[in-house]
Amino acid sequence: MNITIINGPNLNLLGKREPEIYGKFSFEDYLEKLRQIYPEHTLDYFQSNSEGEIVSKIQEVGFSVDGIVLNAAAYTHTSVAIADAVAAVNAPVIEVHISNVHAREAFRHHSFVSAVARGVIVGLGLAGYKLAIDFLIENSQA
Ligand code: DQA
Repeated sequence: MNITIINGPNLNLLGKREPEIYGKFSFEDYLEKLRQIYPEHTLDYFQSNSEGEIVSKIQEVGFSVDGIVLNAAAYTHTSVAIADAVAAVNAPVIEVHISNVHAREAFRHHSFVSAVARGVIVGLGLAGYKLAIDFLIENSQA
């Protein structure tokens, strides 16, 4: 299967950024582990701090890959454009958040993405990405 993981703004700082909330591992290190766990699957990774680039990536891969794992980070709470892109594509999109956004500030409680995502995984740390991939593999049409 081909799965694309898309991370939004500031997630390039994982490991350095508020480690008490987001943990001490970089996403690149975790991605290496994921690729070892799933050698038979292709896991592509894209990170951007720009809303438009995330929209473009969802459009680019969303009609050909088997699934997208999306952590739109702060844009989750603000971006109609990213939600529209998720709604537009064929690939199932699993929304992931590392932290439990519902236990944090009120502005993090609403997600524009959730209503158009196949499902949502929140608050389980980096393991949320693995759970999303497991779901996509187990529920693929292939
Ligand atoms: C986040 C939660 C968002 O509220 C925040 O803006 C992020 C990361 C998470 O993975 O917990 O940047 O998406």
